[in-house]
Amino acid sequence: MTITNDIFYIGVNDHKSDLFEGQYIIPNGMAYNSYVISDEKIAVMDTVDKNFREEWLANLSEVLSGRKPDYLVVHHMEPDHSANIAAFMELYPEAVIVASAKAFTMMKNFFGTDFEDRKMVVGEGDALELGKHTLTFMTAPMVHWPEVVVSYDSADKVLFSADAFGKFGALDTDEDWACEARRYYFGIVGKYGMQAQILLKKAAGLDIKIICPLHGPVLKENLEYYIGLYNTWSSYSPESEGVAIAYTSVYGHTKEAAELLAEKLTEKGCPKVAVSDLARCDMAEAIEDAFRYNKLVLATTTYNGDIFPFMKEFINHLTESNFQNRTVAFIENGSWAPAAARVMGKMLENSKNLTFAENSVKIMSALSEENRSQIEALAAELAGDK
Ligand code: FEO
Repeated sequence: MTITNDIFYIGVNDHKSDLFEGQYIIPNGMAYNSYVISDEKIAVMDTVDKNFREEWLANLSEVLSGRKPDYLVVHHMEPDHSANIAAFMELYPEAVIVASAKAFTMMKNFFGTDFEDRKMVVGEGDALELGKHTLTFMTAPMVHWPEVVVSYDSADKVLFSADAFGKFGALDTDEDWACEARRYYFGIVGKYGMQAQILLKKAAGLDIKIICPLHGPVLKENLEYYIGLYNTWSSYSPESEGVAIAYTSVYGHTKEAAELLAEKLTEKGCPKVAVSDLARCDMAEAIEDAFRYNKLVLATTTYNGDIFPFMKEFINHLTESNFQNRTVAFIENGSWAPAAARVMGKMLENSKNLTFAENSVKIMSALSEENRSQIEALAAELAGDK
């Protein structure tokens, strides 16, 4: 795939893995992107996952057409991109690795060597001249590991953005960008909003026409749309008006309450209601919804004096990713000593700028008439409070 006259795509599509990074389902696979800049000097931008070594090397060989690469630029050391560094260096013994100092430390940990005689350490503002193209490096620590750099090619106005602007999904499938980019962002980078904001501020000073991420499609049009979403996500601002309802239910009564609330919210004209059964849904999808909408309802049972395990895991994910700036409401169920609302409140006590709904629902086993009134009142409060 040709990206510009001198920049070529040599990445691969993964339809074999069941989970990405050992935890995220990838129903439409995953892409590990890699690029070649062909100039007076040739730079290869990152490698790919270890299971696709031969395919990647074949793609590279085809683009090289007999020439030898001068540089391997390593933006990120996570193995989905770095696994083939040693194989590349063995195959192309004249090539030099260009990476951050921290990346070379990680190479020693991964490969037993930091390629001492063949390394070029780059940091903020350093440049790599390839001929017509010059790459300028910017550090992007914690987007999504500490060693990350991104690079900007001023000739073709391309940002090589590492994991930023990445998404789940192979490139030979057709799907909406935002849905799987949002799930990827809040699953993988969500904790590091402040660092993503710093990167966006650096990028704002550049004239960018193309974004080449390490996952997902190359972005060539409407860049303001993608950058705008990244700005919203990384600033922890809600993206849309709506209510995410996340629940767990043991015998169906809490589920009934969650679904009744969803029905009432829809009746009252709430623009979007997203309901997740945390025991059965993709947890990353539920996390994505919690960050997408401006209101969140948590409904769970009291369990062993605590809360049901899936809800505990869910709230831990939220707080780990700095959940903030939302309205939160509770529905609790407890047959003899309801404690779930108190436990959930405690888990969220250090989250910034949360507004807790005045109405809550306390179920003592099955829904009572009083519970139905409480749900009606909660729906009115959430639907009215825009
Ligand atoms: Fe795509 Fe953080 O690796």
